[in-house]
Amino acid sequence: MAYKKMTAEEAASLINNDDLIGFSGFTAAGCPKVITVALGKRAEEEHAKGNPFKVGIYTGASTGDSIDGVLSRAHAIKFRTPYQSNKDMRTELNSHGAHYFDLHLSELPQYLRYGFLPRPKFAILEACDITDDGKIYLTSAVGIAPTVARLADQIFVELNKYHPKELAGMHDIYEPADPPVRREIPVYAASDRIGVPYIQVDPKKIVGVVDTNLPNEVGGFTPSDEVTNKIGENVANFLSSEIKAGRIPTSFLPVQSGVGNIANAVLGAMGANKDIPPFEIYTEVIQDAVIGLMKEGNVKFASGCSLTLSTPALEEVYNNLDFFKERILLRPQEISNNPEIARRLGLISINTALEADIFGNINSTHVVGTKMMNGIGGSGDFCRNSYLSIFTTPSTAKGGNISAIVPMVSHLDHSEHSVKILVTEHGVADLRGLSPVQRAETIIDKCVAPEYKDLLRKYLNLGQKGHTPQNMSAALSFHDAFNKTGDMRNVDWTEIDSQAK
Ligand code: COA
Repeated sequence: MAYKKMTAEEAASLINNDDLIGFSGFTAAGCPKVITVALGKRAEEEHAKGNPFKVGIYTGASTGDSIDGVLSRAHAIKFRTPYQSNKDMRTELNSHGAHYFDLHLSELPQYLRYGFLPRPKFAILEACDITDDGKIYLTSAVGIAPTVARLADQIFVELNKYHPKELAGMHDIYEPADPPVRREIPVYAASDRIGVPYIQVDPKKIVGVVDTNLPNEVGGFTPSDEVTNKIGENVANFLSSEIKAGRIPTSFLPVQSGVGNIANAVLGAMGANKDIPPFEIYTEVIQDAVIGLMKEGNVKFASGCSLTLSTPALEEVYNNLDFFKERILLRPQEISNNPEIARRLGLISINTALEADIFGNINSTHVVGTKMMNGIGGSGDFCRNSYLSIFTTPSTAKGGNISAIVPMVSHLDHSEHSVKILVTEHGVADLRGLSPVQRAETIIDKCVAPEYKDLLRKYLNLGQKGHTPQNMSAALSFHDAFNKTGDMRNVDWTEIDSQAK
């Protein structure tokens, strides 16, 4: 091999305080796993000597613990974008130990190219193969790897034997040109290949290759429960009724489905619904449910950015690569999440909300308005531009002390204009064409938990006159009651009520 082999420690010793690093991977899939562990130790040693040591990091989305967990526990992160879902990282950024810039995932590569964010000095990429002329074959995800590999001055490759070299060919690497010369991105069907299966870099930029043999750090999924199953069933029944009404073609449309247990349950329910024909997926994260549905013939093709699979599901793919390579494509997030393509293909997008309000606005990110949970991720890339945007959420959280549906969202990620359908375990609110008052009545009727219905109806009557009947003194009173008493049901409007009279 033409490249210098080195240890993770040697690679980490070349990275300095204030450096910016871009990583391959998307979720824990395809992320480097050892150089950052050595970097975390280095940061701790420097801190012990009284020296500053923090780096800025660009990733595809969330990462395995070896990046976000290790570096945040070492207090070694200065700046972070575009998405995370690590408990220790969350603590770090909610206490301002690290600055976090929450960003639509499709936008990060162009942010870097446009100079809206500084270029990374280093790229650290996980590969299943590399050639002497600078062709890098990624592992189970793509993320922002093509862009950071091109923009970085120096590249480290973690060559991970756990991922078979035969994975090469599942990736479709394509970077669009920038305005004013950008053309359409020529994806006209989920299965269209538009690029090459590798990242081409100048071999001189590859300063070191570190050998590894490690599985992805993808956590297992919690099994679906009564609530997630019911949400899945509600979505599947709604989609089948849309086919019958002629609003979804009988051949169906490609599906984008968010991350987590609800997304898994929704896909499972769609696969089990006899009225929904075998369908294609055009999404960012390919989860376990997709693999099962593909084997059963219910999913015909999946285009995504990562194989975010539990270890048994990933091994199933690796043991049957001939079958899956014909049915799966992994793309850069700039393409998997591209608004132009979402609109062209007519995606049915299904994402999870943390909180919704009775007028149809969505909070995907902030717990009770202040604490960052994960980030906006790809939800905005898809929901604004899809054919049909569906948001799902359990109607309550924390044993019923929180209603996921409130008078006014405590943080706004997706406005009423981007949300067509809201689904909870209680039912489906179809918001298309409804005025704010009609939306509120529909959401309260169909989606709100029984113990919160009367409170929200009462809130509507407290409303000040206007197109959207919010009451500015009471709009965040559910959150205020939760912060003061630990239960939103303790909301008290006596004073506001008497003033109104
Ligand atoms: N207010 C306060 N806390 C709430 C809440 C609310 N309305 N709803 C849920 N929570 C709490 C839960 O109790 C849980 O707390 P815990 O961690 O202490 O147990 C936590 O928030 C997560 O809730 P859970 O129901 O397990 O969420 P999830 O795993 O289904 O994730 C999102 C939901 C919204 C956080 C997640 O989907 C997300 O990050 N979305 C944004 C990105 C995105 O949509 N990506 C997909 C695009 S392809």
